[in-house]
Amino acid sequence: MELIRSVAEAQARSDALRAQGQRVAVVPTMGCLHAGHLSLVEVARRHADVVWLTIFVNPTQFGPGEDFERYPRTTEADLDACREAGVDAVFLPPVEEMYPAGAQTSVDVSDLTRPLCGKDRPGHFQGVTTVVTKLFLATKPTVAVFGEKDFQQLAVIRRMVRDLHFDVQVVGGAIARESDGVAMSSRNRLLDPATRREARVLSLALEAAERAVAAGERRHAALLHLVTLELEKAPHGQLDYAELRDPESLEPAPAELVAPTLLALAVRFEAGGGAVRLIDNRLLNPHPSPEAPPCS
Ligand code: PAF
Repeated sequence: MELIRSVAEAQARSDALRAQGQRVAVVPTMGCLHAGHLSLVEVARRHADVVWLTIFVNPTQFGPGEDFERYPRTTEADLDACREAGVDAVFLPPVEEMYPAGAQTSVDVSDLTRPLCGKDRPGHFQGVTTVVTKLFLATKPTVAVFGEKDFQQLAVIRRMVRDLHFDVQVVGGAIARESDGVAMSSRNRLLDPATRREARVLSLALEAAERAVAAGERRHAALLHLVTLELEKAPHGQLDYAELRDPESLEPAPAELVAPTLLALAVRFEAGGGAVRLIDNRLLNPHPSPEAPPCS
């Protein structure tokens, strides 16, 4: 497995591979790899000849007071996991390589970044789109794979790729879950055992909403009420948001669900060392196949 630390080296390697007709897939990460990341590597493998993974804890997507310093860094274990998963190369740039002194340029997607996670994390998505642009320009991938747990991030990146004509196919990878249903996240390991148990409320709330929709519930307000009741069962959790939105535009869903709708959740847990914010989501489908939506 190759270890690449400079942008120039990454570009030269990718150019050489592409000149040989190889498709390069990249899985961008901030390290602290878990089975969810490795499932994205598998998705990448299905779309390309060569799989790269990037590890970079991007300072510009963390706001003041967020967990940049505390964010777990486990590089040696990450590199072992990459070797074992058959990753061909890891791009592991130092911060000065990604943000050269005096850098003044950023990339910003407007409307899609305002609701949900954007509301309480000003500048977060600008940090993400800026670094993903830099990672794309460094690794020059044919395909890039991002997890669907960060649903808004995926929607924002898809829009950026479309708006800026990046020649990169963006592929989403399904949310990987622990055996108790909690979505895999590097932040889970920041929770103490009690709050980790409470973290189940997110997936339980999603399941409750899904069951209600399957049983015929379509009312936006009733579904959110149900979800909130589930989330309130975590004494150390504080609800950041529980929202029903259009999965593409991220506009609020109508009063009655008529089309597949994103249910997105964020809960802040008070753990020993500070707040840990977990997110999760599910697409609620009021017209599950094979039934077609009724004609109007
Ligand atoms: O999802 C993440 O881990 C990060 O936001 C990403 C896409 C690697 C950008 O830093």
